[in-house]
Amino acid sequence: MNRAGVLAVLLCSGSTLAHDPITTKVTFSVEIVRLFQKRCFSCHQEGGKAPMSLVKYEEARPWAKAIKEEVLERRMPPWGAVKGFGEFRPDHGLTQEEISVIADWVEGGAPEGEPKYYPELRIPAAEKPQLPAMRMRFQRSLKLATNLRLAAIEPRLTGELEQVRITAEQPDGRIEPLLWLRRYKGEWKQVFVFRKPVPVTAGTVVKADPPSGASYLLYTQK
Ligand code: HEC
Repeated sequence: MNRAGVLAVLLCSGSTLAHDPITTKVTFSVEIVRLFQKRCFSCHQEGGKAPMSLVKYEEARPWAKAIKEEVLERRMPPWGAVKGFGEFRPDHGLTQEEISVIADWVEGGAPEGEPKYYPELRIPAAEKPQLPAMRMRFQRSLKLATNLRLAAIEPRLTGELEQVRITAEQPDGRIEPLLWLRRYKGEWKQVFVFRKPVPVTAGTVVKADPPSGASYLLYTQK
C-alpha cells in the first residue's frame, strides 16, 4: 500500500465510531438508560466508585465499544460470581438477555433515540447489605460445630483470583454449591448475600477449592 492508502485506512478506522450507520432499534433513551440505571449507575455516576459517569448519552457514547467488551467478558458490573452456582440477593450479574441488548446497541451504532422517551432518572445509592454479626474466617476449609444457617460470604484478598468454588459438604454427603468466583478482584470488596440463608447441620465442612491466598468471611446465623 502506498502512503496515501495507509493514511486513508488510518483515517477511516479512526472515524468509524462517529459514522457507524445505525442498524439497531435498541436506543439509549429507551432500553439502555433503563438497564444502566438498574445495573451501572450505582457506581458510574459523578463522584461514584467508577472513574467515569455513564448517566448521560454524551458520557456513555464514547465508551460504547469498551462497554460491549466489558459486559461480554462479564467484567462489568464487577461481580465475579458464576450464575447458577449459589443464589444471591441482589444478584449483580447481567442476564444473557441484558448482555445481548447491550451488544446489539453497540453493534448497531449506539444511537441515542428520541429524547422524549427518557425515564425520570433515579440514581441508586450504593447499597449496604444487612449482615448477621456472627462470622467465621477460613482459608481452605472450615468444619462447623453446630447446626447453622449460612447467610453470606465475603472474599478477602489482594490482587485477582482466577477461580475458586466454595461448597458446603453436609455430613449426609449432600453438597451445597455456595459461590463460584471467576476472575474476581479483591478491590471489588463484594459481599455475596445468599437469597435465602442456607441451612447446614453440625459437622458440615465449608471448602474453598482450589485453595489460594484468599481468605473468606462466612456470615452465619442460628
Ligand atoms: C460496583 C461498581 C460498578 C458497577 C455496578 C459497574 N461498574 Fe463499570 N467500573 C467500575 C470501576 C471501579 C471501574 C474502573 C476499574 C476497573 O476497570 O475495574 C469500571 C470501569 C468500567 C469500564 C471501563 C473499562 C476500561 O476499558 O477501562 C466500563 C466500559 C464499564 N465500567 C462499564 C460498566 C457497565 C456497562 C456497567 C453496568 C452494566 C458497569 N460498568 C457497572 C465499577 C462499576
